[in-house]
Amino acid sequence: MSSGIILYQSKYGATKKYAQWLQEETGFACMETKAAKLNQVCEYDTIILGGGVYASGIAGLSFLKRNIKFLTGKKILVFCVGASPYDESAIAQIRELHFKDELSAIILKCI
Ligand SMILES: Cc1cc2nc3c(=O)[nH]c(=O)nc-3n(C[C@H](O)[C@H](O)[C@H](O)COP(=O)(O)O)c2cc1C
Repeated sequence: MSSGIILYQSKYGATKKYAQWLQEETGFACMETKAAKLNQVCEYDTIILGGGVYASGIAGLSFLKRNIKFLTGKKILVFCVGASPYDESAIAQIRELHFKDELSAIILKCI
């Protein structure tokens, strides 16, 4: 059976709220990225990582950048929560900046 975990990093609470909604919908485990241990995360087939957007960076994405080589074969999705109005070019910029090379297969959703 497929299992999943939602990791989130949220300063003001918006990303945390989305993470909680996702948890309710999926039944996945849910925890702050800062508290996540790699061996724990590796137990799940699906990893959803959410973070607020700060100056075009995604809070907590460093967890994936650091550990991606240990997550081969996992289904990985990232969602980011920003305050800017929806803008395809801003999303393209985030994709270009952060989802290259080993992270290029990750599914990205900007909210
Ligand atoms: C210093 C700072 C930089 C920010 N930079 C961006 C940005 O580049 N793009 C954007 O859409 N929102 C930006 N925001 C807005 C946050 O992404 C937004 O408040 C988001 O909801 C924060 O997520 P959180 O509530 O989970 O911490 C910025 C906010 C702050 C305080």
